[in-house]
Amino acid sequence: TASPNAPFYQSYDLAADLYHHILVNTKAGQPALKYLEQRGMTRELIDQFKLGFAPSSDDHGILAQFLTEKQVDYQVVRQSGLLTTDHDGHFHDRFVDRVMYPIKNANGQIIAFSGRLLAAKGNDQAPKYLNSPETPIFNKRLTLFNFDEAKRAVRQEGHLILMEGFMDVISAYGAGVKSGIASMGTSFTEEQIQAIQRISNELVVCYDGDDAGQNAIMRALQLLTDQAPTLKLKVVQMPSGLDPDEFVQQRGPEKFQQYLANAEETPTAFRLQYLRRGLNLANQNELLSYLDTAIRVVAQVEQPVAQNLYLKQLADEFNLDQATLAAQLSQVEQQAQ
Ligand code: GTP
Ligand code: MN
Ligand code: MN
Ligand code: MN
Ligand code: MN
Repeated sequence: TASPNAPFYQSYDLAADLYHHILVNTKAGQPALKYLEQRGMTRELIDQFKLGFAPSSDDHGILAQFLTEKQVDYQVVRQSGLLTTDHDGHFHDRFVDRVMYPIKNANGQIIAFSGRLLAAKGNDQAPKYLNSPETPIFNKRLTLFNFDEAKRAVRQEGHLILMEGFMDVISAYGAGVKSGIASMGTSFTEEQIQAIQRISNELVVCYDGDDAGQNAIMRALQLLTDQAPTLKLKVVQMPSGLDPDEFVQQRGPEKFQQYLANAEETPTAFRLQYLRRGLNLANQNELLSYLDTAIRVVAQVEQPVAQNLYLKQLADEFNLDQATLAAQLSQVEQQAQ
């Protein structure tokens, strides 16, 4: 009673084993292995995540040949997304000259790959990461990298940590933080939020320490508050210019763990800081407009004590009367009703 999808899982397993073998045991894999080692990937991590390498070939590709030899069903091969078809109908490897990151479903079965260009081969035309297309076993909107491992780590770590990239999750894992997950390069989806809620009631958003990362945190917080109002949210902003992977590689596992524990802030504190980026608060008009926006943000906070805390911080920082800020907050709240 094999499920109709069994041959797809088998093909992805075969492919992952082949790519991993090429990376760790063959000459063709040496540049990629060196690349990963230079990025701080230990042999343990390479094995744990079954990282691999898809080599180039003069022919139609090593995986195309391998799947033919294994006599994998034509329709399965065609729909697997592992190969592409050329103008004369031949199958070719989809992934060529890329470091391969297997992607698993919630049960730990490999269902897709993301392939990264080696840094040295990077050019502007080819995307840095190439993902498998959707297939009978791969739904991008549902999938989160490392979800199966993170599921186990939630009990110990008490939360999931949402990161931007595969390397962030892998480096965090190497640093002992195993609850990291990443959405698949596309934006974060409702389906992913539902999956998160099924296994954890707390989520830490930890994106890259750059403008794109900050914008992405704002979008993720909005979606999360809309879709999962009961999920407890925290934000950890990476130091400027670093993503979690770079943090671990540059400052080490202990500093990373300490940073995660100490730098977390509430979504409201993040929003208040985000909304003042680039403003000149020495200018009275800009300051007043910021305070108006800030009070609207505070109005969305439910707990009166937390509201009071944010108002006190605003009052202290801008040398204002807290009671006046509170009066404006009441006005905003009444208008909203
Ligand atoms: P490294 O350069 O390997 O450290 O990757 P990164 O994870 O730091 O990349 P970046 O911050 O630029 O992007 C975060 C995530 O977005 C990646 O892990 C990918 O999942 C995704 N991503 C980045 N570039 C591409 C791309 O060209 N195509 C696709 N589909 N996804 C991408
Ligand atoms: Mn051909
Ligand atoms: Mn980024
Ligand atoms: Mn990054
Ligand atoms: Mn990175």
